[in-house]
Amino acid sequence: MSNQTIKKNGTIKWQSPSNLAIIKYWGKFGSQFPRNTSISFTLDKAHTITQLKYNVKDVKDEQISLSFTFEGKQNEAFEHKVKAFLNKINNDYFPFLKSYHLHFDSFNSFPHSSGIASSASGMSALALCLCTMENELYGTLADTGLFYRKASYIARLGSGSACRSIFPYMALWGSHADIEASSNEIAIPYEDKIHPVFKNYHDDILILSNKEKSVSSTAGHGLMENNPFADSRYKQANERMLTLLKALEDGNTQLFGEIAEAEALTLHALMMCSEPSYMLIDPKSVEVINLVRQYRLDTKIPVYFSLDAGPNIHLLYPNEYQSQVSSFVEDQLKPLCYEQRIIYDQVGLGPKKLEN
Ligand code: PMV
Repeated sequence: MSNQTIKKNGTIKWQSPSNLAIIKYWGKFGSQFPRNTSISFTLDKAHTITQLKYNVKDVKDEQISLSFTFEGKQNEAFEHKVKAFLNKINNDYFPFLKSYHLHFDSFNSFPHSSGIASSASGMSALALCLCTMENELYGTLADTGLFYRKASYIARLGSGSACRSIFPYMALWGSHADIEASSNEIAIPYEDKIHPVFKNYHDDILILSNKEKSVSSTAGHGLMENNPFADSRYKQANERMLTLLKALEDGNTQLFGEIAEAEALTLHALMMCSEPSYMLIDPKSVEVINLVRQYRLDTKIPVYFSLDAGPNIHLLYPNEYQSQVSSFVEDQLKPLCYEQRIIYDQVGLGPKKLEN
């Protein structure tokens, strides 16, 4: 395409979800490569909407020119973060970016102070906007498969787990000797081999605290390098993955739930036995865990929990039990939540390109 025909401006908007890892990624090397394979549910309600407006610069220079508003207000912290990220990757992946002024405007569907990490939804939305821009300018990502693979690759460079948010239902990331097409560079969609029961699984996110994390996930991954259990942990994750994939295929919600809980507790145990040690769960997380286990024992309903790198509890259960579980949640768990906040989420269909 000649220079004259390249678009001078445009507006792109993507909605991209958060995700919840069932087998956790914890420990990385090189440029955001995972030490073990992970797999996640793509969520629906917890998402970021990012709009990118691009305008060609009058005079081309070698700088990334960018402004960033978050929920309608200028946000310097995000502006610096995204600028640093684009400065790092543009030469290799989007060399045209320096010819444009970029304005990003971003919204989260969940409250800012909810303790929900927004890096997966935010970074995946950003990556999708950049890939669409490339395609609008050069038509180089017209192939849908290629488009999503590049989006996943770029999202990974922004925040490892974000690479999984690109695909519907479930996504798997990290190379595994026994899993075809698995890769450290991109996540792969994992929807064909999962039983329908998991395609509309519930994930009620119980917000137990609105506090910022005391240790960033970058620092947390870093501490795995000297964790004495690191090697056995990576081996365990890769072995659990195979058991989990079988449970997903068979629709075995009990085995699925047992692995989800074991993985969540392993993640937090690894934090506690890092040097220095730190703890991201709080007494309310333990209280909820005990209530969930008692409820399961009493009712035989397959409700299990998971946690991300924070105190909030993700309550996982099949759609068919929604009304029963709902009374348990409203009566026993909601009163324990920060400002009674719960995000009633579910497995979702992945990112959506929105009209401007
Ligand atoms: O993507 P990061 O660097 O924020 O790491 C996230 C890691 C966990 O959320 C704790 C686990 C996972 O696999 O998503």
